[in-house]
Amino acid sequence: MQKNREQWNSKIGFILAAAGSAIGLGNIWKFPYIAGEYGGASFIFIYLICIAIIGLPVLIAEILIGRTTHRNPVGAFKALSQSKFWIGVGGMGVVSGFLILSFYAVIAGWAIGYILEAVVGNFAHFNTGSLAAEHFTDLVSDVPWILGYFTLFMILTMLFVYLGIQKGIERGSKIMMPILLVLLVILMVRGITLEGADKGLEFLLYPDWSKINAQAILVALGHAFFTLSLGMGAMLTYGSYMSKKDSVLSAALQIIILDTVIALIAGVAIFTSVFAVGLDPSAGPGLIFHTIPAVFAKMPGGYFFSILFFILLSIAALTSAISLLEVVVAYFVDDLGWNRKKATIVMGFVVFLLGLPSALSFNVLADYTLFGKNFFDLVDFLASNIFLPLGGFLIAIFVGYVWGFDKVLTNLREGAEDLFDNNPFIITTWKFFLKYLSPILIFIVLLHSLGVIDLIFN
Ligand code: PFF
Repeated sequence: MQKNREQWNSKIGFILAAAGSAIGLGNIWKFPYIAGEYGGASFIFIYLICIAIIGLPVLIAEILIGRTTHRNPVGAFKALSQSKFWIGVGGMGVVSGFLILSFYAVIAGWAIGYILEAVVGNFAHFNTGSLAAEHFTDLVSDVPWILGYFTLFMILTMLFVYLGIQKGIERGSKIMMPILLVLLVILMVRGITLEGADKGLEFLLYPDWSKINAQAILVALGHAFFTLSLGMGAMLTYGSYMSKKDSVLSAALQIIILDTVIALIAGVAIFTSVFAVGLDPSAGPGLIFHTIPAVFAKMPGGYFFSILFFILLSIAALTSAISLLEVVVAYFVDDLGWNRKKATIVMGFVVFLLGLPSALSFNVLADYTLFGKNFFDLVDFLASNIFLPLGGFLIAIFVGYVWGFDKVLTNLREGAEDLFDNNPFIITTWKFFLKYLSPILIFIVLLHSLGVIDLIFN
């Protein structure tokens, strides 16, 4: 069934596309507020450890499975094991792609909508955070507004996937990722040059160990997963278009460094600004849409910087959404023989239908809940807190124990011969983390998500 499967045109193209997948709402929206909530620098320290001991090993494992098999998650497990169980694990990845994209695109739609809000100057009169919060509630209660931007975002995502790996995803990432970096640096410089910015830096960078408890560690572990797009085969699928001449190890390291640096810069840009204008830094998940518009209203040049900020947020979300849709499309192309264009249009539409109840969870369906969660929260919880860690756990087990470690090492060595032969220590460490540390830690995160840990300790 495999005809001329595409490959990335260059290694940097792959790195930027994979970094584009990793860098998303998780970095710009979530990381700053959880770092703020759990003690600033002490949380960042724990988060960096999580990235190193579970993020990096699992990322290497995922890219390696993709590069070895040149398949989507389902096809990859079929090629390596034939067992129904493992093929099912790949299937869970494809299903997670559908689920995550369906609600991710709703929030991303708000980001696009907020570009227009910024352009028409709707933030100018927000002299308190509560005015901005009310405006947000008004917007998300407006069904045509929320559906319109959700649809627009889905069409944009589909466009890049429709155009294919080199002409769509790689070219798009090569243009969008540098823009993202430049915008973020501009916003960071704006933040740190504001009067009173030092209080923001202190908040983010001063360690407060009293806030580090089991909960903080679990949040750091869970976020390490989400932010690196791990556990559902997005990195596996991007790795499947990689050439065997390129090193998986160095690619994984570069992706991780980019993702982490961007999250830290986003944290600095946001907290210096929030403190400089004297707003509440602990706004939690509402930080971006409730607090930030008011921050810009009070900041010199805020009109201009607010537009840049929401463009940045939209780009970050778009390059991640593309990778989610690509997992789904790759499955239909590789395993069911569909052509890319048909797979993109049909599956994009299916994701759109699935996203409708999520978009409506903020208005007409707000009162319909199951286990105390509306549809949006339920899909988010199921995919991000159950499927991703479960997928990551199983991927670590597969590469650590099932695939056959000799084969794993032979494949890993390809493209990285020098590093591999001269630094046995690196490989031994990776093996240890992947076989023992990562599965145990991920399993604990999973138990936490399922509420088992709370049951034991309370
Ligand atoms: N890594 C993305 C973020 O931080 O926003 C989210 C994500 C994208 C998760 C792609 C999973 C995925 F497959």
